[in-house]
Order: sequence, then structure tokens, then C-alpha cells
Amino acid sequence: MERKIPLTKPYITDELIKNVTDVLKSGYLTEGPVTKELEKIVAKYTGVKYAISFTSNTTGMETVLRALKIGEGDEVIIPNYTYPATANVVYMVGAEPVLVDVDKKTANIDYSKIEEAISSRTKAIIPVSLFGNPLDYDKLNKIKEKYNLFIIEDSACSLGSSFSGKKTGSLADASIFSFHPRKFITTGEGGMVTTNNFQVAEFCNSYKHFGMTVKQEGDDLILDPNEFSINGTNYKLSNVQSAIGLSQMKVIDKLLEERLDLAKRYDKLLEDIKEVEILKTTDNGKHSYQSYCILIQNRDSVMGEMRRRGVEVQIGSIVLNEHLAFKNTRVSGVIENSKILGNECLALPFYNGLTEEDQITVINELKSVLKIK
Ligand SMILES: Cc1ncc(COP(=O)(O)O)c(C=O)c1O
Repeated sequence: MERKIPLTKPYITDELIKNVTDVLKSGYLTEGPVTKELEKIVAKYTGVKYAISFTSNTTGMETVLRALKIGEGDEVIIPNYTYPATANVVYMVGAEPVLVDVDKKTANIDYSKIEEAISSRTKAIIPVSLFGNPLDYDKLNKIKEKYNLFIIEDSACSLGSSFSGKKTGSLADASIFSFHPRKFITTGEGGMVTTNNFQVAEFCNSYKHFGMTVKQEGDDLILDPNEFSINGTNYKLSNVQSAIGLSQMKVIDKLLEERLDLAKRYDKLLEDIKEVEILKTTDNGKHSYQSYCILIQNRDSVMGEMRRRGVEVQIGSIVLNEHLAFKNTRVSGVIENSKILGNECLALPFYNGLTEEDQITVINELKSVLKIK
């Protein structure tokens, strides 16, 4: 059989399959008690008052923008190197994204370029903790306070990471995780908003439940299914999906430790390859390695050759201003690092359960492609 090392593999155990089966057998398939349990475990893990599940990070981000009344006439600053969802949600609510370059070493937004992008219309920044690399909130909070802006973190990739000992999810006005299968905690498709802001939590809960009225009981938000206060929609995460994520959340510490060990092993295997630059973890930060990325010249030909050899590698992320969808989007300052990352960033196979043998094979194949002895 031809050998293949996949880019990613969701963490599916027999116990997880049993938990999902139990939900199926219960007949309670829509959002329900398992979803609530998932919300509670994520709130506790990240250290926030409220966690509200969604059908995706994208629908969660859109709802948070609406909760903060960001809309027509407003501008929102976002990094130019991210997944298009970060910008699309800004357009979805009628506001305008403004693109700022990223730092080449961390792949996160270049904090030194944010201030020059701020105008009288700027309401918020959506920084992205890309690939699981946490954001520097010492820097972000200075800007937030000076200009009175909201920080909405696109933490799609970074459940488990932390900055200065505080978990991602607890550092911004609101943070939004993704549970897409390439994220290490997955529900198939899904997302989660975390916040300490009651108004955001109340609006999110109402909006995703068709606009139902929300009542507060202690820290719990209770929906009244017979009363509707706003025009909402349906962004509910089902019990079935939640059972997948809940089973993984219960062992998140173990999964995260394993990921950090895998990353250390790649770091070591790559340290003498001068053609490769390893992305850097934010100072005072703990990475959660949704992806393990390197920078390499001639990335596309290396990627093609690695794939031909059965090693599934992938580009890092998307350079927004190079795409038709964003041809009219305002770009602030000079964009150079996004372009470099767009050309050189390569994600290596990375998932819980990746063996040492496979990691060595990945790097040996890379060396062979680069013609290194
Ligand atoms: C940085 C970033 N933001 C947003 C998203 C969208 O997440 P979802 O698929 O859960 O909507 C992704 C997904 O890959 C992402 O990487």
C-alpha cells in the first residue's frame, strides 16, 4: 500500500464514538444538554463567564459584531494574512475591513502598524491568533485604551494557547473559536464565542435562537421560547456535534501537551536546515499548534514534490489583498510580510497521534527534496 502521511487527523476515540452514539440513541439531536455541557467546559477552561456555541467561527464572529453594534459606516482593522472569514464577517454586517500587514516571524498582525490604520470610523480590531500562536495583549490593550476600540479576537485556531499565563478566549472583549476538523478540538463544523461581557453574551444567545428573549439567572442565561425580542436567526450547534467536541475537551490538557511535544520534535529535527525558518511563538505566549508552519523558498515546488512523495503539506493562510473578493478593500500602509508568508509558508503534517517515525519521515523527505544530505 502506498504510504501517506496526512496533514491532519481528527482525534476520534472509541469513547468519543460511544458518546456520540449515546446522543443518537437518546433521540435528542438538536441543541440540548450536551451543547450546554460543552459551553460550560469551554467557559471554565478559558476562564470566562460566558461561552456561547455557534455553527462556526464565522457565524459567531458575525454575531459578536452585531452585538457590539458594528455596522454601516464603521471600520474594523484586520490582518491581511488570515482566512477570508475574518474580513467577510465585517462586510456581512455592513462595515468595512481595513487590512494591515503582519509580522513575518509570528504571522500575527504587526502591532506597530495598527495605529496608522485607525480613523475616526474605526470601531474595532479583529486580530487573529494564527495557527494557534497567541496575541500580545500588552501591545493590543495599549491601543485599545488609547483609541477606545473593541478587540474581537479571531481565535479560530487557538483554543489552548495563552498569553502571560491567561488563556486565549479570556483576553479580548470577545473571542471566537472554530471547531472545524482542522482545529484540534472539533465538532465537525462549529464554533464558540467566549466573553465576560453580559450584553455580548445576551445578544449572542438571543440572535442564534431566532431572537428569543434571554433572562439572567445567576451567571446562566435562560431563553424564553415564547417571547422574541430581536430579529435573530438559527446558528445552533446540535447535541450530536457537541458530543464530539465535549469528548475532546475532557482531555484537552493531554492533547495540548502532546502537541507541544510534537512541535518541539519538529523544531529539533529542523534546527540545522538553513533553508527553513520556523515561525516564532509570541513572547510570553504559549502556542497551541493548530498548525505547525515553516517558511521556505520555492514553497510551491517543495509542496508539490512533498505531496508526490505521500507527505500531505499545505499552504499556511490567505493573503487577502491578492484576491478578487477584496480588490476594493482599504489597505493601510505597506504590505510586504503577508506576501512573503503567502509565498513561503508551509504547514507540515500535524495532529494528535502523529508518530515520531512519521515526523522523521516528513523531515527526511523535506531534506531530500531540498537535496540536503
Ligand atoms: C483564522 C481563521 N478565521 C476563521 C476561520 C473560519 O472558521 P469556521 O470554518 O469555523 O467558520 C478559519 C478557518 O479555517 C480560520 O483559520
